[in-house]
Amino acid sequence: EKGGYKHFMLKEINEQPRAIADTISGNLQWFESGKVEGIEPEEVERITVVACGTSYHAGLIGKFLFENLAKIPTEVDYASEFRYRDPIVKNRDLVISITQSGETADTLAAMRLAKERGAKVLTICNVIGSTATREADTVIYTYAGPEISVASTKAFTTQLTVLLLLALCFGRRRGKLGQREFDSLFKELMSIPSKAEAFLNREKEEERVKEIALKLYRAKNALYLGRHVNYPIALEGALKLKEISYIHAEGYPAGEMKHGPIALIDETVPAVFLATKSPVYEKVLSNIEEVKARKGRVVAVVNPGDSAVSKLADFKIEVPETHPLLSPVLNVIPLQLLAYYIADFLGYDVDQPRNLAKSVTVE
Ligand code: M6R
Repeated sequence: EKGGYKHFMLKEINEQPRAIADTISGNLQWFESGKVEGIEPEEVERITVVACGTSYHAGLIGKFLFENLAKIPTEVDYASEFRYRDPIVKNRDLVISITQSGETADTLAAMRLAKERGAKVLTICNVIGSTATREADTVIYTYAGPEISVASTKAFTTQLTVLLLLALCFGRRRGKLGQREFDSLFKELMSIPSKAEAFLNREKEEERVKEIALKLYRAKNALYLGRHVNYPIALEGALKLKEISYIHAEGYPAGEMKHGPIALIDETVPAVFLATKSPVYEKVLSNIEEVKARKGRVVAVVNPGDSAVSKLADFKIEVPETHPLLSPVLNVIPLQLLAYYIADFLGYDVDQPRNLAKSVTVE
C-alpha cells in the first residue's frame, strides 16, 4: 500500500509529478473551452478565497495569480475567521473554497455564509462527493488521488495547478492576458510534471536534502523566508516542519525579517530561504546577507547555475528553473522532503503526527 516507501508522506511527495499531470489533463476540457460552469469571469468583481492550513497557503498564492494574470482583486481569509468578522460579500463576488478533504468544518461554514450573502461559491476539492462538492455552485477537482498522510503534499501542488489554470482562463476571458503570454505560461505549466520528476529522480539531490536534515534535526527553532509568490511557500515549509517534527518554525516574508524576527537569529537557528530566479532575487540575496552577518545557518533553494546566493549559503538545494509564477509548485518539494527527513531522523510517526487529524470536522 505504501508502494515500497517507508511512509505515505514520502510516497505522496513522489506521486506529485503524476498528480499534477492528472490534474492538468482532468481539467483540460473546461480549460480549453475557456468556460468554467456557472461563472462569468468578466462579471467577477472580487475573489475571496477561504481555506485552512495548507489549503490556505495555496489560496495565498492564488491571490498573486488572480491579481497578476486576471487583474481581479483577491482576498484570502482563514475560513475559521471569515464568518466571525461579518465579511462584506456582494453578489458579484466569487468565493473560492480550497479543501483537500471537502469536510473541514470551518471551510464548510465559510462557504455557507458566502452563499447566504449572495456570492457564487466555487470549491477546489480532492474528494469526489464530499460535502464541499455537494454544497458548492461549481466544483473543480484536483486529481491527487487519496492523500493518507496527515501532512498535505500532493493535494497542495495540485491545488496550485488548478489555481494556475483558473487564473489563466480568467485572464484570457477578461482580455488581461495576451495570447503569447497565455500560451507560454500554459506550456510551462505542462512541463512542471517532468521538472518535478527530474528533481525527485535525482538521487544526488535527495541525498543532499537528507544530509541537510541530518545537520538540522537538533534545532529547536527554524525560520523559513521567501518573497513575493514564494512567501506562502515559506509559510508552508514552516507548517510542514512544525506538524511532523515538532520543531518550532516560523515562515515570514523575508522583507519583514528586520521588523522583528531577525532578533531570533544566531548560529542555532537555521534559516531556509527560497531564492530561485525571480524579479525579487536580489532582494532575497540581501536578506540572506543580513542572516549571515548574524551567524545564521542558511539553507537556500536555488536554480541550477546560481552563484550569488550559493556563495553565501551553508547548504543549497537545486530545483529546476521555471517561470517565477509557477516556481512555488517546484520550490515546495524540497521543503516537504526536508521536513520529512528531519521528522524521520527524530523517529516520529510521520504519517500520524500527535494531536492532528487528517480532516478537521469540528470547529
Ligand atoms: O482538507 P482541507 O484541505 O480542508 O484541510 C485543511 C487543513 O486542515 C490541512 O491542510 C492541514 O493544515 C494539513 N495537515 C497540513 O499539512
